[in-house]
Amino acid sequence: MRALAYDAVMAPLGWVGLNAARRQLVEGLSGRVLEVGAGTGLALPGYPDSVTSVTAVDVDLGALTRARERRSGVALLQADAQALPFADASFDAVVSSLVFCCVDAPATALSEVMRVLKPGGELRLLEHVRAPSRVLATAQDLLTPAWRKLSGGCRLNRDTFRLVETAGFRVVRREQRLGGMGEFIFARRP
Ligand SMILES: C[S@@+](CC[C@H](N)C(=O)[O-])C[C@H]1O[C@@H](n2cnc3c(N)ncnc32)[C@H](O)[C@@H]1O
Repeated sequence: MRALAYDAVMAPLGWVGLNAARRQLVEGLSGRVLEVGAGTGLALPGYPDSVTSVTAVDVDLGALTRARERRSGVALLQADAQALPFADASFDAVVSSLVFCCVDAPATALSEVMRVLKPGGELRLLEHVRAPSRVLATAQDLLTPAWRKLSGGCRLNRDTFRLVETAGFRVVRREQRLGGMGEFIFARRP
């Protein structure tokens, strides 16, 4: 039920650009890819043929059940980004959209992502983040406690770019949207 409601809320956002952004997130990837926090699998149909395997994890089993309908051949696993059940250097790329705002210990999750990526492997994130404008960021700070309860864990004010840099990734591309409140972060494991 929650998964159905999520898709219903996401549908209009998809039509106004989020679906295109999810496709942009995965375009040009190749090899073995891990998607962290795949949810109901809205990014799964966009993976190009150059991707040889897709593994998708999420903590929400109901969402993963829905994700199964979106693409065949995906290895779906209930798992926490903060403790990924994979060997070191297992993946060529790790993808995640709208997840790091929800993760309780994002630094731990990013160190797990670093661990499972091959050296030189790519991290691609699509996130809504803390606004660069001080006024908007203050509004995000004020709204976050209530929004977090309403949404089931989402923080409006997370500075994901700084977390990625602090985790030791080499950022190769940053593309800000919506006045800096949304962004693509493409980075590599050194
Ligand atoms: C806003 S949804 C995004 C889902 C999907 N990536 C999308 O673009 O529609 C956030 C997802 O992150 C998952 N999530 C939150 N914390 C997580 C964690 N620690 N490990 C794995 N998944 C997590 C939630 O269960 C949820 O499916």
